[in-house]
Amino acid sequence: MAKPLLVVLAAFLASSLLPRPAAFGVAPGAPGGGGAGFGNWIAMNQQSYATNVALYAMKAAGDGAKALDANLTAAEEKKVSYVVDPSGGGDYATIKAALDDIAAGNTKRVVLNLKPGVVYREKLFLNSSKPFVTFLSDPSSPATIVWNDTAATTGEDGKPLGTVGSTSVAVESDYFVARGVVFKNDAPLAKPGAKGGQAVALRVFGTKAAFFNCTIDGGQDTLYDHKGLHYFKDCTIRGSVDFIFGFGRSFYEGCRIESVVKEVAVLTAQQRTKSIEGAIDSGFSFKNCSIGGVKGGQIYLGRAWGDSSRVVYAYTEMGEEVVPIGWDGWNVAKPESSGIYYGEFKCSGPGADAKKKKRVGWALDLTEAQAKPFVGTHYIFGDSWIQEPPPSTSGSSAGGGKAAGAKKLKQQAEQGAEAPAAEADTATTATKDAKAGKTSAGTTKDAKAEKTSAAATKDAEEETSTSAATKGTKEAEETPAATKE
Ligand SMILES: *[C@@H]1O[C@H](CO)[C@@H](O)[C@H](O)[C@H]1NC(C)=O
Ligand SMILES: *[C@@H]1O[C@H](CO)[C@@H](O)[C@H](O)[C@H]1NC(C)=O
Ligand SMILES: *[C@@H]1O[C@H](CO)[C@@H](O)[C@H](O)[C@H]1NC(C)=O
Ligand SMILES: *[C@@H]1O[C@H](CO)[C@@H](O)[C@H](O)[C@H]1NC(C)=O
Ligand SMILES: *[C@@H]1O[C@H](CO)[C@@H](O)[C@H](O)[C@H]1NC(C)=O
Repeated sequence: MAKPLLVVLAAFLASSLLPRPAAFGVAPGAPGGGGAGFGNWIAMNQQSYATNVALYAMKAAGDGAKALDANLTAAEEKKVSYVVDPSGGGDYATIKAALDDIAAGNTKRVVLNLKPGVVYREKLFLNSSKPFVTFLSDPSSPATIVWNDTAATTGEDGKPLGTVGSTSVAVESDYFVARGVVFKNDAPLAKPGAKGGQAVALRVFGTKAAFFNCTIDGGQDTLYDHKGLHYFKDCTIRGSVDFIFGFGRSFYEGCRIESVVKEVAVLTAQQRTKSIEGAIDSGFSFKNCSIGGVKGGQIYLGRAWGDSSRVVYAYTEMGEEVVPIGWDGWNVAKPESSGIYYGEFKCSGPGADAKKKKRVGWALDLTEAQAKPFVGTHYIFGDSWIQEPPPSTSGSSAGGGKAAGAKKLKQQAEQGAEAPAAEADTATTATKDAKAGKTSAGTTKDAKAEKTSAAATKDAEEETSTSAATKGTKEAEETPAATKE
């Protein structure tokens, strides 16, 4: 019964563009040392659960609970606001111009008010040296930031941009906030099996980033939830293959997650692996979300990128498009003896499978205690940094009017250690660095995690082999019987 579906999946996913787990030094097909099988898997998941409980207890007991961290508090106290209006009525005509004017080493909350309903056709790169930036628009009439590069688009150096370079908006700085903004990549949808079809709309590489009432809209690889602690509240995320991917530690709450294709869609490709310190703390947690798509389409909840991919759905309404087996092990030959942690808790709708009759045998129907560490902003230690911004002051500048506002940002830039070069095309610079695998190098504090991201960046340029993807799928099909009986 399930066979035609899997064949379709295998054929379709052959086109997929994420790197193989082997890139992390884990040979596909030999993740868990075969024999120990189910016992190992239980032990590993229990260990993972214990780790989470410990982290949760630690955070709940103090360690900044409820108190905003000091740097953020200081930045909010020095808040400045500007209006970005392409028609000339604001402080800046483009978002890029405003970002260029922010000083490296910025310590103030810089709120950029984007005009409701306005389309900003810009490719943006927010440098890691510029934290505390907010994009603010109106959820009932959002501004749209859109570009249309794909991985196959030729860059200035004559080479394809790759997945990282395809991004419409890249955020590498910490403490980014957006509210009521559409992040979009409007490149034509890649045909199934086409090469270089990845078209990222938003890539978030900074930590402590929060998105409220935003839409992240694209096709293949829409949201690169790349690295760090991220919060998505009441957002809509649309795409096709692997459309939420990366090794962020992220909490999605009240979001609408939608496939835009009639073919097979894969909602997540969460990247997590035992072999790299730091990466093991990552994972995507969805609470009170809804999943749907094009009628007749087929949606996988996730497939494993790396040996320990981790995704949890709780209280989520699953449309009929969600396939009964739910999950795919991808290149992991024996998911049941790997570190993969895929769980569901109290989900509903025709696509949910509370009794686990048809789900892959290695996916978990979580208990309340198991779900607890994931279900809440405590999963991302949100008490110390999540703050919903007040409504946009889109009509006028809160920074003291057009001239005054612009001047302030410029002065700030001059006082900075390194004022940004006015002529530099930041988007191009970002792309070049990313292609060299340098995106994270020198921009993050965590050396170990840097390596991870550099690897991820490089890997994202590679094509996945057809046979590997097919193999993972086949294994998934065989697993339930093996583990259950
Ligand atoms: C706050 O900023 C200082 C100076 O930039 C930095 O050394 C410190 O790590 C920051 N603290 C946090 C919690 O980010
Ligand atoms: C944000 O999204 C939520 C959920 O869709 C909605 O209830 C709320 O009204 C939105 N906020 C605004 C200001 O539109
Ligand atoms: C992006 O849009 C421009 C015109 O707006 C077009 O010339 C270009 O071919 C498009 N690129 C892609 C990859 O679709
Ligand atoms: C679930 O999300 C919807 C919006 O999508 C919101 O109206 C509702 O209050 C949320 N419920 C809970 C229990 O968080
Ligand atoms: C980020 O800004 C720093 C300081 O201005 C600069 O040295 C670096 O090249 C920039 N990085 C990217 C990727 O643009």
